[in-house]
Amino acid sequence: MYDVNEIRKDFPILARSVNGKPLVYLDSGASAQKPQVVIDAVTRGYAEEYANVHRGLHFLSNLATDKYEAVRGKTQTFLNASSESEILFTSGSTEGLNLVSYGWAVPNLKAGDEIILSVMEHHANIVPWHFLRERMGVVLKWVKTDANGSLDSQAVIDAITDKTKLIAITHMSNVLGTVVDVKTICHAARERGVATCIDGSQATVHMPVDVADIGCDFYAITGHKLYGPTASGAMFIRAERMAEMQPFMGGGDMIRDVSRDMITYNDPPHKFEAGTPGIVQMIGFGVALDYMMDIGMENIAIHEKALFEYADKKLSGLNWLNIQGNAAGKGAIFSFTMAGGAHPHDISTIVDQKGIAVRAGHHCAQPLMDHLGVTATCRASFGMYNTLNEVDKLVEALELCHELLG
Ligand code: ALA
Repeated sequence: MYDVNEIRKDFPILARSVNGKPLVYLDSGASAQKPQVVIDAVTRGYAEEYANVHRGLHFLSNLATDKYEAVRGKTQTFLNASSESEILFTSGSTEGLNLVSYGWAVPNLKAGDEIILSVMEHHANIVPWHFLRERMGVVLKWVKTDANGSLDSQAVIDAITDKTKLIAITHMSNVLGTVVDVKTICHAARERGVATCIDGSQATVHMPVDVADIGCDFYAITGHKLYGPTASGAMFIRAERMAEMQPFMGGGDMIRDVSRDMITYNDPPHKFEAGTPGIVQMIGFGVALDYMMDIGMENIAIHEKALFEYADKKLSGLNWLNIQGNAAGKGAIFSFTMAGGAHPHDISTIVDQKGIAVRAGHHCAQPLMDHLGVTATCRASFGMYNTLNEVDKLVEALELCHELLG
């Protein structure tokens, strides 16, 4: 456990007001705020340490390259991957998941092959697989969540057939906060030779994650949710799967030699990283990972469990609030609608007047909205810096919404 008031001092934006009220930021699921160390790293990266990486022999290029490449080891530690070379840098989970689709699935799947998805995937873990359905005749198979929003790992395993090539599944729902037992799924899939691609965009923010223990083939993480810069992120790719991949983007850095007649590739993971990357963003991402690891992922999880329990009790007490999903072990993400049918956008606008930031809409999870029988929800998503007092402020603002909107 840590002193949340000390943590809050690290995040300058939390001191500001919005609409004349102290900011209550409950939209970390969309993007988290940044600690000063990350802001400083980005500023310093441009002000004092900037040059292109992997290309120069001059001082600044070497400095930037060393700082940039050091992030691979930090990410390896953060995810407990067995080697730095299993960490690919990306601009975020969307790029990472598309990389698996274009780089691994396109060369290895054919018409009629099956991919298993859950209905609570984010569009970033749906649309790249739809491309394969549209373009190659790959079949998408969907596993539903239960009434309480939990995903039965056995139902996912039971959906495997001789044609299944991949299970692409979230570790934590960005809408329901449901945590999926990806370890059981990945171990069963592995025994059957089925690849597993886990969207860790939300889970890695809230709990310790160990890809070696989970036993997955691909695991996506995204920097901007991990208190790091936008356009930063990484993909863990098990070495055996990386060997099955083809590059999906061509350009500088990913090649060894280029002639008029032929090309040879750089070694993995560079083989899959074309062009000038988000150098400063990735350096900032490394600082964000260090910041989280210094606080300790277990400590963050303990703090957020207390937040979850308090918010769950308070929000459940509002009998006109329909909270979507109450799976055991869920994270501090609450999606809800109001019994009178108030539009989530209106709820969000009213709570914003109280300085409270929540997200309203389909949360890039339209198949889940369809499954839940709603078109949109309001979502309060908590982070390491939120307080119990902020839960009270949310409850007060929702009571006002109920009064005004019915
Ligand atoms: N994936 C982000 C969210 O859940 C944008 O809001």
